[in-house]
Amino acid sequence: MDDTHRGRITKEGIRIHEEADFAGMKAAGQLAARILDDVAALVVPGTTTEALDRFIEDEVKAAGAKSATIGYKGYKHASCISVNHVVCHGIPGTKTLKDGDILNIDVTVIVDGWFGDTSRMYVAGKLNRKSERLIQVTHDALFKGIEAVKPGNTFGDIGHAIQAYVEAHRMSVVRDFCGHGLGRVFHAPPNVLHYGRPSSGAILEEGMFFTIEPMVNLGRPETKVLADDWTAVTRDKSLSAQFEHSVGVTANGFEIFTLSPGNKFHPTYGV
Ligand code: MF3
Ligand code: CO
Ligand code: CO
Repeated sequence: MDDTHRGRITKEGIRIHEEADFAGMKAAGQLAARILDDVAALVVPGTTTEALDRFIEDEVKAAGAKSATIGYKGYKHASCISVNHVVCHGIPGTKTLKDGDILNIDVTVIVDGWFGDTSRMYVAGKLNRKSERLIQVTHDALFKGIEAVKPGNTFGDIGHAIQAYVEAHRMSVVRDFCGHGLGRVFHAPPNVLHYGRPSSGAILEEGMFFTIEPMVNLGRPETKVLADDWTAVTRDKSLSAQFEHSVGVTANGFEIFTLSPGNKFHPTYGV
């Protein structure tokens, strides 16, 4: 067996990675996270999402890594940039950011064959109270999900923790997109739902690698995809936020591969 095919696959099709594989994921995750740190200074009113994407593409190349999204199902950019009511998969373009716009930047890189996938929220200019609250709840919901990651818990426990937290704040969890297994591939089983029932779904085992990436709307959860076949927006045009980490299940809990090296993970904590 070559080293691309080490490890075991569960009956749900989820790969169980080996201890040595965590280092590969960490290297990839840390590059993606560092790029998200570095782009923060460029997110100002008047800039275009295309300019942010170009910076990201250059940083991926400068690091000697590869963008996972360029060429993925015909996608042409090194990031997805989702502004205001765009839920995910926003395509970088010539639109300029206005004061108070909130945006998710999602970057996936490949380092030595390992995939690092992470996204965060940013604000152009001044963050208003409504947006701040949405971003805070979304961020904290992601961590409620991450805290449920340990061997013996289930994927339903993760989804339930996120959903309960978001709905307690009278916001809604998007159902139409989910997290995913990853490792030496971009998208693998399982689908990591951001809602669900405790104790349902596959049981977490040490060595599973996956993303958790809840999308939270201020209004209703329904989305639609625009004619460009990528851009997903809220149907009611309400604001949407998302945070994403790539994590691994350890013997006692979790390792987050994509933590911000500069601790710049949240717009309300300063750029
Ligand atoms: N990074 C996204 C995710 O979290 C996937 C983007 S695919 C793209 O899974 F083609 F739109 F870039
Ligand atoms: Co992802
Ligand atoms: Co992503």
